[in-house]
Amino acid sequence: MTESRLYIEGGRKIQGEISVHGAKNSVLPVLAATLLSGSVCVIHNCPALSDVFSSCRILRSLGCKCRREGSTVEIDAKTISDYEISENLMREMRSSIVFLGAILGRLRRCRLSFPGGCELGPRPIDIHLAGLRKLGAKIYEDHGVLDCSFGGTVLGADITLPLPSVGATENIMLAAVLGSGETVIRNSAREPEIVDLAGFLNACGAEISGQGSSTVTIKGVSSLHGSEYTVMPDRIVAATYMGAAAITGGELMLKGVRPSDMYSTVSVFEQMGANVYPYADRIYISAKKHLSAIKTVRTMPYPGFPTDCQPIVMAVLTKARGTSMIVENIFENRFRAAAELRRMGADIKAEGKVAVIEGVPRLSGAATVATDLRAGAALVIAGLAAEGTTTVTNIHYIDRGYESIETALRSVGAKIRRA
Ligand code: UD1
Repeated sequence: MTESRLYIEGGRKIQGEISVHGAKNSVLPVLAATLLSGSVCVIHNCPALSDVFSSCRILRSLGCKCRREGSTVEIDAKTISDYEISENLMREMRSSIVFLGAILGRLRRCRLSFPGGCELGPRPIDIHLAGLRKLGAKIYEDHGVLDCSFGGTVLGADITLPLPSVGATENIMLAAVLGSGETVIRNSAREPEIVDLAGFLNACGAEISGQGSSTVTIKGVSSLHGSEYTVMPDRIVAATYMGAAAITGGELMLKGVRPSDMYSTVSVFEQMGANVYPYADRIYISAKKHLSAIKTVRTMPYPGFPTDCQPIVMAVLTKARGTSMIVENIFENRFRAAAELRRMGADIKAEGKVAVIEGVPRLSGAATVATDLRAGAALVIAGLAAEGTTTVTNIHYIDRGYESIETALRSVGAKIRRA
């Protein structure tokens, strides 16, 4: 079957309102965490993304019931009957590794295939595994399969992460919730999605504190109960649509967002010369002036500028006046948008952690390939401002993180279609 592609006729200003859907990076760990409840959970604001569908398939394969109605997913985790995730399901989505802590926490055993590398580089899980071992897990690795088990109850541990890994913080939290001791995670990730996961687990009866700071404490409890929870808005999707407004000299009101999670991103758009007004649950952006270059943008763990927004900002900077530099500190292989943007006339030199972008007056439409989720979104953003037609192939990457990106952009004036 030939995959569809996106066709974008550039040159139209993006203007109007977009409602931003729930956060992919929050809903995936929350869906995994429902396993720990051993009960029925109702999760609202679940976006229709391929990664969310994969998570539901994993939950069903483990014996749980999972029903979706609109953006609400109901999971009955009482009937869990298996501790193993098949290799096929593991391969569908790299973030399936977050099921490790949840299955292990609930059933005291978990078997799954090693997630391996991905588009962004090697993506090791050594920090996840070291943390779980510190919690008392025995872990065997054989022919790419991980077999993890707890001999008895989790007694808690004091764990210092060598770097604030989001996934490792989540996996350790999930594995430590059911137990009888206290677990402290130091140098934990501070991302808002960690706060959301802790919020969900606490709503189910967990005792987690310190989330959002660099020390998270989990007091083990003997059991959890089901709950109803609304997932936080997607701050990366919000930033992507801000990019669409900025690069086309347009204006947008983004509804259903949490600007307090987005200060570093807002600051980058302001440095480019866009006017950004954050309200309690909305952000307004307008880019009436020609955008200017930014001396240096550095990706950092939260509350620094997010690596996931980096390709989007790179796309916008291709048309900003002057020379910008991006330093990518989180992932090795996150400048893959650069080569495709060059096909559209962008002037970008990327080597190692550093990319230098010389703003050009015009981009021209080209045939491009999405190499990963955010690189794909960056090409769409650039296509909106390019002269002529841009096509983007490999759009299954984009569907992993954006609920019908073309429908959202068409509603604010873009000429974009999927065919
Ligand atoms: C999560 C997000 C991803 C985001 C990233 C950084 C999800 C589903 N994905 O990914 O969108 O870009 O956070 O904000 O939430 N590392 C190790 N060993 C480990 C774990 C990580 O060396 O055991 C390294 C990674 O290679 C990377 C860095 O730590 O260089 C950060 O990774 P991490 O925070 O774990 O990202 P993810 O949880 O995979």
